[in-house]
Amino acid sequence: MTRGITIVGSGHFVPGSPVSNHALERVMKTDHDWIVQRTGIAQRHFAAEDQAASDLAVEAAKRALEDAGLAPEEVDYVIFATMTPDHLIPGAGGVFSAKLGIAGVPTLDIRQQCAAIPFALELANGLVSTGAAETILLVGAEAHAGFMPWSNWPALYDPKVPIDEEDFARATRHRGIAVVFGDGAGAWILRASDREGSGFLGSKLRTDGRDAEFLRLDAPWRRGLRTESPEVLLDQFVPSMNGPGLFKRAVRELPKVIRGLCRDLGVDPEAVDCFVAHQANDRINEAVRGAMGLPAEKMPSNIARYGNTSAGTIPILMDELRRTGQVKPGDLICMLALGAGLHYGASLMRL
Ligand code: UT7
Repeated sequence: MTRGITIVGSGHFVPGSPVSNHALERVMKTDHDWIVQRTGIAQRHFAAEDQAASDLAVEAAKRALEDAGLAPEEVDYVIFATMTPDHLIPGAGGVFSAKLGIAGVPTLDIRQQCAAIPFALELANGLVSTGAAETILLVGAEAHAGFMPWSNWPALYDPKVPIDEEDFARATRHRGIAVVFGDGAGAWILRASDREGSGFLGSKLRTDGRDAEFLRLDAPWRRGLRTESPEVLLDQFVPSMNGPGLFKRAVRELPKVIRGLCRDLGVDPEAVDCFVAHQANDRINEAVRGAMGLPAEKMPSNIARYGNTSAGTIPILMDELRRTGQVKPGDLICMLALGAGLHYGASLMRL
């Protein structure tokens, strides 16, 4: 029997005051009912101008360390997951570690976007089992605000601010992506479990670059992309997303990886106490749940309050579940996610 890594502390942080669907109606052509019915999202938070993903991560990490009863210096490895780094070069992990006051600690930036957690857990478990690390700080943090397709930020927070027609039209062109993403960070402290047969049990991971264009933002230095038109330049910073394509792949692939993982590990899916799913869309998770024949209470959701925080969703949700006692030591947890790449997978962990 082995002892996998487990979560010994968790924390999360979301910036500023919530932005409702009705507030989004002021900056683009969309409506609250559409967003709720198609996604389950009622509000989200956005990073301020001076808040990067690393800043949100620092707040989440402090809370996770406090929860674990550890000082930052006790962390000996950092895994930083984001699709919205502070800079294109370098990754945000080193900047984050320095801000947390642990410069020098080896830090990995991982780029599995919304599917970061099942990949990160396998990586973290490997680092601990080889003795390369004892205490790992894993963070998923996103500041999507930087690519939101409007410039009129004050209008979101104040209905009296006048709207510019061109800005409104541009945001409407990108509304499919603009209404689903929100900002936030979640952090876990990972250590080897103190009980045989518990902790991380395994991940089933898949990467399929054939559908990389489903959610994509081209590097600004790619030859042939540079243009003099300011409007096209602005649009180059908004990812393009084939929402229905991602939706269908998630509904088709996630039940397969969960079943495959359970089969490999000899676990009956019915024995899983809680499925902590990536929060991209409530309808995706309902379809996965339906395909697996799971009761609603086994797949909790918090997308209504935060939207899709990409790499942040699973760590944030897990922190809420731990703090409210909805998951507890001894529970068998399945985490599942699909995102840009396409990367997707599932992990099992006995808390
Ligand atoms: O985190 C991992 C990566 N992301 C995902 O996994 C996202 C997965 N995909 C989705 O969640 C959904 O595809 C979306 C929420 C993004 C879109 O929902 P949908 O049900 O797939 O809508 P659609 O793109 O097929 O559009 C349906 C209709 C269209 O109108 P017509 O052509 O039927 O008249 C759109 O123009 O809804 C319209 N629409 C909107 N209406 C109001 C699209 N976006 C909006 C909007 N507000 N924001």
